[in-house]
Amino acid sequence: MSPSTFQKNILCIGAGYVGGPTMAMIAAKCPQYKITVVDINPDRIAAWQTDHLPIYEPGLLEIVKQARGRNLFFSTEINRHIQEADIIFVSVNTPTKTFGEGAGKTADLQYWEKTARDILKASDSDKIIVEKSTLPVRTAAALERILHSNEKGIHFDIISNPEFLAEGTAVNDLLSPDRVLIGSRETEHGLKARQEIVDIYANWVPRERIITSNIWSSELSKLVANAFLAQRISSINSISALCEKTEASVGEVAYAIGQDSRIGSKFLNASVGFGGSCFKKDILNLVYIAESYGLFEVAEYWEQVVRMNEYQEHRFVRTMIAALFNTVSTKRIALFGFAFKADTGDTREAPAIYITRKLVEERAQVVISDPQAIANAKNDLADILSEVSFQQDPYLAAREAHAIAVLTEWNLYKTLDYRRIFQSMLKPAFIFDGRNILDRELLYKIGFNVYSIGRPPLTHFQD
Ligand code: NAD
Ligand code: UGA
Repeated sequence: MSPSTFQKNILCIGAGYVGGPTMAMIAAKCPQYKITVVDINPDRIAAWQTDHLPIYEPGLLEIVKQARGRNLFFSTEINRHIQEADIIFVSVNTPTKTFGEGAGKTADLQYWEKTARDILKASDSDKIIVEKSTLPVRTAAALERILHSNEKGIHFDIISNPEFLAEGTAVNDLLSPDRVLIGSRETEHGLKARQEIVDIYANWVPRERIITSNIWSSELSKLVANAFLAQRISSINSISALCEKTEASVGEVAYAIGQDSRIGSKFLNASVGFGGSCFKKDILNLVYIAESYGLFEVAEYWEQVVRMNEYQEHRFVRTMIAALFNTVSTKRIALFGFAFKADTGDTREAPAIYITRKLVEERAQVVISDPQAIANAKNDLADILSEVSFQQDPYLAAREAHAIAVLTEWNLYKTLDYRRIFQSMLKPAFIFDGRNILDRELLYKIGFNVYSIGRPPLTHFQD
């Protein structure tokens, strides 16, 4: 299809973990639309044009390659592309505010507002603006006010279309989503704009999985989905602490409750804690919104999900230190995994960051190993780089170590030769499985003292 015959010009502002993969999927599935992704970060844009994409996501390069140069383009020319676009997805970052009113809780909307003002300035025709970023409920009202302050007579329709993809499985989540949510004003204009966005997804998503709603429900549903997911993890993690005291096994408890179809079996893996760029930020955002409406009990209820996660991370380090005879000073400790989950190089809010810092405070010699996240780990630990070391090869990381802590559930760590690793470590050798992915009985037989989440430890010591 030649550029002039594209049915629509779709623009996405923000070429990150959401903007890049989402637009690549739309472009791959809809050759009739021209999709352009812009960003203020020229390095990111340059990387999207190579085979070394700026994010690690299994299967993504193949999808990008299907469409790149055909109907998928990456650019830093934001204003020109705003002008040309019929539909603009906004997928900029909305981190937690670190200053002023609401610091530490509410969303920092500076990137969002800057984008709104860029759109206002560069537009000279009517457009549909789609909120793809995760935003506080009622942000669309603020956006409408900014955009309709124009004196050019241009009409903007605002749509909320939050993204539910998870990192590591983004391609499959986009290819076959549980649902796509599209919220709009329920006016004649709003409903028409909503339909245009439905029509995009209907190119590959079954119609019954495309849910439509009023705009506020859509904005709020995104925050609530993440809050409920994180709540499940905090719930099972709270029970893991109880299991460690009572000889119950958290895996068995999770399986038993998960067989109840009302509870369901997914997202019940006890762990060292949830990380990722969104769970904590979105819950704190929800907490702030509830507080701002005077709903303090609602705010406290959800804040506890984050507190429980912090407790789980702290508890993990305390267990390590106590097991290692109450001192880790000068001891080599190998961390297996730094990413916040497997199959991503992303380390945002990874439990490994807190755990490394705590161990370094205790003067341990921390060696970090991860198949994809070492570059990001170096950024996260920039202020203490001289106090940690990095070793891609887990066998070398564990050599002469007192302990290993598994912090990310990479498949790689399930298949290592732990007999060989044990032989190369100092004795007594310890392993702390923060993801419950290893065969603890086998490790114990090899000679390790094994600490799992939600199980009493297996040690070779007599009381
Ligand atoms: P990200 O930081 O990876 O990407 C955001 C991009 O926006 C960056 O590349 C940044 O340079 C760019 N940007 C910022 N201001 C800009 C501006 N004024 N003009 C042009 N570009 C600008 O963030 P992300 O992980 O893709 O998240 C984006 C949004 O999606 C957030 O609101 C997040 O909560 C939400 N979300 C993220 C995920 C996820 O898995 N990461 C999943 C669902 C929803
Ligand atoms: C999460 C949601 O799953 C997505 O639906 C959402 O779109 C996204 O946040 C977002 O808004 O950013 P993501 O953070 O990429 O996706 O990854 P998850 O698979 O949800 O894992 C989050 C954290 O919880 C990870 O640290 C993971 O290891 C941990 N986790 C997950 C557990 O500890 N136990 C579990 O059973 C599941």
